Amino acid sequence: MGDLVRVGLVGVGTIAQTHLTVLAELPWISVDFTVDPHLVVPPPFRGTAPRHYASLANALDEHQPDLVVIATPTDTHADLATLALVRSTARVLVEKPLVHDLASLARLRSLDGDVDVRGRVFTAHHFAFSPEVDWAAERIAEHPEWGPVTAVTSAFYDPYVLRGDQAFASYTSSWMDSGVNQLSMLTRFVTLTALTGAEQADGGATAWCTAEYRSRGAVGTARLRSSWLTGSSSKETTLSFGHSDVEIWIDHTAMTGFAAQESRLLASYGTDGLTPRKVAHYRPLYESLLSDRPGPVLSFDTAATITEIHHATPDVERGIPR
Ligand SMILES: NC(=O)c1ccc[n+]([C@@H]2O[C@H](COP(=O)([O-])OP(=O)(O)OC[C@H]3O[C@@H](n4cnc5c(N)ncnc54)[C@H](O)[C@@H]3O)[C@@H](O)[C@H]2O)c1
Repeated sequence: MGDLVRVGLVGVGTIAQTHLTVLAELPWISVDFTVDPHLVVPPPFRGTAPRHYASLANALDEHQPDLVVIATPTDTHADLATLALVRSTARVLVEKPLVHDLASLARLRSLDGDVDVRGRVFTAHHFAFSPEVDWAAERIAEHPEWGPVTAVTSAFYDPYVLRGDQAFASYTSSWMDSGVNQLSMLTRFVTLTALTGAEQADGGATAWCTAEYRSRGAVGTARLRSSWLTGSSSKETTLSFGHSDVEIWIDHTAMTGFAAQESRLLASYGTDGLTPRKVAHYRPLYESLLSDRPGPVLSFDTAATITEIHHATPDVERGIPR
């Protein structure tokens, strides 16, 4: 990318606000246009309003962006990413999950050859950039004597029951939304190999899944719980190192963590409390994306692997039962 990075933002809903906040901190970024068919007043960027369009096709008739950011409902990602790939030369940052089904992944893959899909498509696996995740990954790298990660338990709760059907329209299901965050976060610690169990219940508002992984020559199971049936957000993950009796607990909501060996505290992590959680995820994500070598967790290949593991689940009838 050149000295000035011209950005087009597609979908100006909830998460777009975080993208705009982080992009506004980077002096070499200019947001040239926004796209959203349902927006009457487009948001300002550094005090001025970028050109606004009702469709990405119309925007690409007028602009040559270096980066297109897609922050629209999950089931629109594949079509919009395809349009951006075919009608521009921009890198494309797609919100997670990259696609909503395996057929869409196959369609994106089939473009490779005509356009550089693997070189241009990145997925915003933002949870993998959260500071407590970084902290835990560094501790694990520093301590090979802890041995392999022998068990993982992760529970992600979001209060989307309060949003009713709109939650399903934007995020499809709890597993579609949180499962991808859990799997992409785990790629920082272990190598995921397969989904070994999947139960979705409550019309897709809850899930209980298990995934097999490899860690330092051993094979383990990650237990993944997610649910929208709650009044508040709460997300935690524990990593057990059974050979050394070490455990790491990370609290993704509080952005804190600690490592303990039986009754002894080995290390702990906290923040100064000044940076909002999503900004703390997207700042390092953009730093990585805009560098010469974007991190592997953003890559098309990682997103494809996660998609394949993630979609080894039976379909559920969607909607919270009334
Ligand atoms: N909300 C979060 O905290 C969060 C965090 C990370 C990732 N995400 C992901 O980001 C995506 C969007 O989530 P959200 O919470 O911002 O949803 P949202 O419903 O708040 O916003 C989506 C926006 O996209 C617009 N839109 C719909 N179709 C469009 C189209 N064809 N072209 C342009 N704009 C279109 C809608 O009008 C809406 O303004 C989802 O895939 C979600 O998984 C959300």
